[in-house]
This record gives sequence, structure tokens and C-alpha cells, in this order.
Amino acid sequence: MTAAPLAPGPVTVRVPAKVNLELLVGPRREDGYHALSTVFHAVGLYDDVTVSVADGWGISVSGLLADAVPTDGNNLAMRAARLVESRFDVEPVHISIRKGIPVSGGMAGGSADAAATLVGLDHLWDLDLDREAIEELGAELGSDVPFLVAGGTAMGSGRGELLAPVLARGTYHWVFALSDDGLSTPAVYAECDRLRGSAPVPEPVPNPALMSALRSGDPHELAPQLANDLQEAALSLRPDLGEVLSAGMEYGALGGMVSGSGPTLAFLVEDNEAGIDLAVALTASGVVRDVRRANGPVHGAHVIHHRVD
Ligand code: C5P
Repeated sequence: MTAAPLAPGPVTVRVPAKVNLELLVGPRREDGYHALSTVFHAVGLYDDVTVSVADGWGISVSGLLADAVPTDGNNLAMRAARLVESRFDVEPVHISIRKGIPVSGGMAGGSADAAATLVGLDHLWDLDLDREAIEELGAELGSDVPFLVAGGTAMGSGRGELLAPVLARGTYHWVFALSDDGLSTPAVYAECDRLRGSAPVPEPVPNPALMSALRSGDPHELAPQLANDLQEAALSLRPDLGEVLSAGMEYGALGGMVSGSGPTLAFLVEDNEAGIDLAVALTASGVVRDVRRANGPVHGAHVIHHRVD
């Protein structure tokens, strides 16, 4: 008599958040998405996603702002799991997410969880997918998912899902001002369209000065090149963020901007020390309730633990 094969033990994947160093929004396409030219940058605020073999599909969420995360089929991590199920011969899993990335914060937390789930299931079920295949699956789930698989610093075009490498030197130090309430990404894009009115919008073209700043590795060169076409729309929906942006600059940030579609604000600082000073000053000022520090670039979704039973 042969024993039934043991189910593989749980796999935990760590996945970072992103900021867009440049987010240039072009015309709205026929499919409703906007043509983008962006530079993604992975930063060390992390979600940990554990996939474990279970009797049925399930999901649970804990950690930062966990109550705001859907725990049904709308969760992007669950959609990632069901996508894998539709393509490969796999069994149900429970997905357990520990949030460290702000929810609906413009830092791609949902996309990060989807990326982590794809990497976790690949490992759990020995699917032997290469990074490119995982990124292609990711693109079916959301524009930011392929980048959260890749990590580092990369150019994104199309609707953000087409990645190309960027030569970037050095480590950058960031301070993030978090908001209690998230912003809906579609609502921010819609506000951007509304503010633009009927004027023709040119195709977005990457800024060579940003590329050269990234090659220098100097945060003083990078700071003036940070750009986000969604910033005006995010500030229009959340005027209170303007005050936080001004405070961050006044307290010594080299540069500051809305992260992605917001409402998180990203401040670039000179070094670790300057990051601590800015975080303390912002917290003490009372204009922000929650502040996080992180460095970038960091790696994309990667396995940190696989229990072998
Ligand atoms: O691709 P993802 O599902 O992350 O995008 C969320 C929403 O953001 C889209 O439904 C769309 O409203 C908006 N979006 C856009 N253009 C892009 C990326 C996202 O309009 N390039």
C-alpha cells in the first residue's frame, strides 16, 4: 500500500509597494485605460502573502488598514489564484495576507498581493514558470502587477504593463505620509479627464533628464525630475493633501509628490538621517497621522519561506 502524497507546506512571499518616479498620462484609449509612460520604483513597504493548501478557496487579511480590503472574489489576490486555477492543474488554497502597504493608497497594494499570489502558487505547485510568464499572467490582472513581480526600477508603457529596464544607480530614501481614507484609482483618472476637458492630449514621452538623474544615483538630481500627471486630480479630490505636501517640503524633503493615484504622499530625502528627521517633524506637526520610511529600489515578489512538512 502506498501512502497518499503529502500536500506541500505553506509558501510565504514578500512583495514591495511601488511609487512612480514619473507618471505621464496620455490620452484615454478605446478600452477605457490611459496610455502611460511611467517609471516604476519598488520601495521597502511590504505585504507578506502566504498560500496554503486548503479544502476550499479562501482568503484572510490582517495588518495595516486590513478592514478596508475585500475578502471575497473581488480581492485581486483571489483573482490571481483563480486565474492560475483556470490555466493549470492546481488544488484550492487559502491566501493569507499581512498588509504593510497602505490600502487604496496609490502604492499598488492590491496588485502587489496578486503578484505575490502568482509567485507563491508557482512555487507551491512547482509550476516552473519563469518571471516573464508570471508577468504575462499578472498583466491580465492589472496594469501594475507585472512590475510588482519584477521589482527594481523599470519603465512602464502601454497601460503600465509593458516593462523595460532602466539603468538606475544607488539607493533612494523615502518618507511616506499615509491617509486614513483611500482614493479610488478609476475616480482619480476620471477627475484627470474632467480637468483636462476636451483639449487634445499628446502621447506621453519619457523625460531624458529623469533617466540621467537615475544614472547619477544622486537624490538631488532626481528630486526636481519627479512628476505625476495624476497629482492635480488627486489634490482636486483631496485638497487637504496640499497642506501635507507643503509641510513635507518645508521640513526638508528634496522632493515631494502624490504617489500614483494617491492619497499617499511620497517625499524623497537625502539619506536615512534626513528621513528620520522628516518623519518626526511630520508626525509632530499633526498634519499627518501615520508616516513610514522606506528605501528603494528593492526586489519584486520573492519567496521568503516554504515550510516543508
Ligand atoms: O489596471 P488596473 O486594474 O490596476 O487599473 C485600475 C483602474 O485605473 C482602471 O480600471 C482604470 O480606470 C484606471 N487606469 C487607467 N489607465 C491606466 C491604468 C489604470 O485609466 N493606464
